[in-house]
Amino acid sequence: MPADQSQQDPKVQVEAARKAFEQEFERFARFTGGAAPAATLSLEEAETEQRALEDLRTRHFGRKSTLAACKKLIGRVPADERPAFGQLVQQIESESVARLEQAAAALNAYVERARIDHERVDVTLPGRRPRQGHLHPITLLRERIEDIFVSMGYAIEDGREIETDFYNFDALNIPQNHPARDPRDTFYVAENMLLRTHTSPVQVRTMEKMQPPVRIICPGRVFRRDPLDPTHSPMFHQVEGLLVDEGITFGDLKGTLERFHKQFFGEKTKTRLRPSFFPFVEPGAEVDVSCVFCDQAGCRVCKGTGWVEVMGAGMVHPNLYGFVKYDPEKYSGFAFGGGIDRYAILKYNINDIQLFFQNDMRFLEQF
Ligand code: PHE
Repeated sequence: MPADQSQQDPKVQVEAARKAFEQEFERFARFTGGAAPAATLSLEEAETEQRALEDLRTRHFGRKSTLAACKKLIGRVPADERPAFGQLVQQIESESVARLEQAAAALNAYVERARIDHERVDVTLPGRRPRQGHLHPITLLRERIEDIFVSMGYAIEDGREIETDFYNFDALNIPQNHPARDPRDTFYVAENMLLRTHTSPVQVRTMEKMQPPVRIICPGRVFRRDPLDPTHSPMFHQVEGLLVDEGITFGDLKGTLERFHKQFFGEKTKTRLRPSFFPFVEPGAEVDVSCVFCDQAGCRVCKGTGWVEVMGAGMVHPNLYGFVKYDPEKYSGFAFGGGIDRYAILKYNINDIQLFFQNDMRFLEQF
């Protein structure tokens, strides 16, 4: 059959191989003739073309290619036609490979240039600055509070977060059966060891260390078994104050807190003390400031009263002097303790204490 015969005819076969190559090579022809490939070709696309071209090389000139098969047919060609046929095969191969090489060279050069372009650094671009952090709002306010008291001559004292129940309760005149000692209210870490529930243990530790005059504040973290809600957190911050000297009166306490609140919230701010009870002071008081939000007209924050509670305070109980061997006839003093988070809530008008501890950048970046 003619088709079969043509299949058998080595010349026809080698021509067919050339045609097949030409057909497939057509899309690479644009890379021959010295013209640079269009710059619209992306690096990725050029690399794909590179791989396709190498694949084409293997299929048409490799050991299993039609052309390789044609070479094996040389022996079947009549002797007188053999040299001419051999030349034809050689010629077709060398011409085709030459074209393919041209395209490959152009493509390779293009890819190399594109890679360099891709990796090039534009030194005129603005640099990437590391993002600068800043202090946490609670830290900012703690420092503000420290500044105000330091300007009044107070020293800053460091307490410890793990306390003995002696310093957290006994030495503060808190009786054995006091509800605050209940493990349901206090985190115990071992027998007689706990996470301090207030900064007041610092009063006793400071007085043990030094003789009057004593004038310190101690800011720090405290812990209570409180549920998480907008106004409670099992971990929060307090600042304790203690002043002991000769002739200190309740008037000094009131004047000090008044001065502090004016500095902190603004000169219009009023301070009010209401009688209250804490075992380590006598007399004791709750300290309120005039509502910073409504100017005492009454609002949601002050629950319509015009006042917001911020501290506990009072004159140091003489029993404490007994623990630290101060002469209660000679010395008197006052102590106060307030929540830094509470001050922050009022200062920044924040309605949820949890925001301070969730580390949400959207919140923290505002300070
Ligand atoms: N320690 C008290 C509390 O945490 C506050 C306080 C401090 C009261 C100093 C009086 C004097 O509630």
